[in-house]
Amino acid sequence: MPAIVLVGAQWGDEGKGKATDLLGSRVDYVVKFNGGNNAGHTVVIGDEKYALHLLPSGILTPGVTPVIGNGVVIDLPVLFHEIDGLNARNVDTSKLVVSANAHVIPSYNRTLDKVNERFLGSRKIGTTGRGIGPTYADKMTRVGIRVQDLFDEKILRQKVEGALELKNHLLVKVYNRRAITVNEVVDELLAHTERLTPYVADTALLLDQALKRDEVVLLEGGQATLLDVDHGTYPFVTSSNATAGGACTGAGISPIAVTRVIAIAKAYITRVGEGPFPTELFDDDGEKLRKIGAEFGTTTGRPRRCGWFDLPIARYASRINGITDLVVTKLDVLTGWEQIPVCVAYEVDGQRLEELPMTQTGFHHAKPIYEYLPGWSEDISGARSLEDLPANARAYVQFLEERCGSRISAIGVGPERDQTVVLRDLLN
Ligand code: GDP
Ligand code: IMO
Ligand code: MG
Repeated sequence: MPAIVLVGAQWGDEGKGKATDLLGSRVDYVVKFNGGNNAGHTVVIGDEKYALHLLPSGILTPGVTPVIGNGVVIDLPVLFHEIDGLNARNVDTSKLVVSANAHVIPSYNRTLDKVNERFLGSRKIGTTGRGIGPTYADKMTRVGIRVQDLFDEKILRQKVEGALELKNHLLVKVYNRRAITVNEVVDELLAHTERLTPYVADTALLLDQALKRDEVVLLEGGQATLLDVDHGTYPFVTSSNATAGGACTGAGISPIAVTRVIAIAKAYITRVGEGPFPTELFDDDGEKLRKIGAEFGTTTGRPRRCGWFDLPIARYASRINGITDLVVTKLDVLTGWEQIPVCVAYEVDGQRLEELPMTQTGFHHAKPIYEYLPGWSEDISGARSLEDLPANARAYVQFLEERCGSRISAIGVGPERDQTVVLRDLLN
C-alpha cells in the first residue's frame, strides 16, 4: 500500500511543485492535504510555466487523479479561476476530486485576515491575506463551513448565522467595519454549489480503495516544516500541519500506509513573511541569492528573505518528518561563489547548540556558526548525474548529507522537469 508523503523541509518554496510534477507520471493520485491558496507552486514544463495555488501539482500530469483533501481550506472563486485558467491552456481538470469535509473560505475570513494583520501592527505574521488563519480558527472553534454544507441550504444558513453572530461583533465593534448579512454569505457560497457538486466525494474512502488496489498515492504538502502550526516557528507559521504527520489527518489515511517521506530543501534557504531566521543575509550575498534564484513569492510577489543552508533546521526536519529521501533543489543558484557558508550549529546566549533551541526566544537569539566550503564556477544546469557535477559541488552535497541526517536522493540544477540529478528512485 504505497502512500508517499512529500513535504517542505524549510520555510516553503523549496520546489515541492517541481518534485511532485517529476513523480507525476508514476503515481495514480496526488493529494493536497493542508493549506489553501496561500501556497504557490511553480512548475515548468518545456516552454510552459504554471503557477498552482489550490490545485495539487499532479493536475498537470495526464492520468493522475488530483485530490483536494479534507485538511485543505478552499476559496471557491479561486478554485474555479484556477480550473478555468488551466482549461484555457488545454490542461484537463475533469478528474479533480474534492473532499466533502474540506472547509471553505468565506469572503469574511479574507477580510478578517487582513484586518487582523493590521491590528497586530509590529507583531504581524506577514500572512498571504488569503483568509487561511481565520478559516482554520473557525474549524477548531467549530463554526466553520464545509463543502458538504453547500448541499443543504437550511443547514448552511444556520451555520452562517452562527458564525456571523461572533464575526459581526468583531467586525463592527472592534474593527469598525460594516456588518455582513447572512443572506449575502449564503448567496455567495450557494452560487458555487452547482459547479462544485460533480467534483465532491468521500476522498478518504476513495484513497483507501486506491491503496487497497496497490495504486500509488502521493500526499503533497503545502508550506513546510518550519511553517507548521505545531512544529514551526510559532506564531510565525501558517495555521495547518504541514509536516508528515499532517498528511494522514489531512488526507484521511492511516500512518501505516505511508512507506516513504520525501522532503524538499533548497541548497540555501528562504522565508516569506515575518519571524526569526538565523542565517538571513542582509548584504550583497542575500541580494545575489534573491536575484539568481528569482526569489520572489509565487503567491504574493513579495521578495523572499534569503540565507545560507541551515543544518540544525535540516536535522530538525529530518526528525519531525522521518525523512527517507531528501531532494536538494536550486544547487545551480550557488554557482559562482568562491566559498559557501553552511550553518552547522547555533550560538545561543553564549552557548553552542547543535539542535533547534527549545524556546522561541532562544531561536530569536540564535546566531549561526558557519563552516565554509569551497565553491565552483562551472555552469551545472546541464548536469544529469553526480559525475557531471564539479568536485566542489559534489563535496557540498556530500557535506550536507553527512551532517543533516537524511540521505539525499535527488538534486535540482534548474527549474525544468529534466534539470535534476536523480541519485536513486524516489518511489521504489
Ligand atoms: P514550492 O512552493 O515548494 O512548490 O516552490 P515554488 O514554486 O514556490 O518556488 C520554487 C521556485 O524554484 C520555482 O520558481 C521553481 O520553478 C524553481 N525551481 C525548482 N527547482 C529548481 C532548481 O533546481 N533550480 C532552479 N534554478 N530553480 C528551481
Ligand atoms: P508554499 O506551499 C512560503 C507564510 C506566509 C506567512 C505565514 C502565514 O508555496 O511553500 P498564511 O497566509 O498561511 O496564514 O501566512 O506563512 N506562507 C508561506 N511561505 N511558501 C508558502 O507556501 C507559504 N504559505 C504561507 O508568508 O509568513
Ligand atoms: Mg511556493
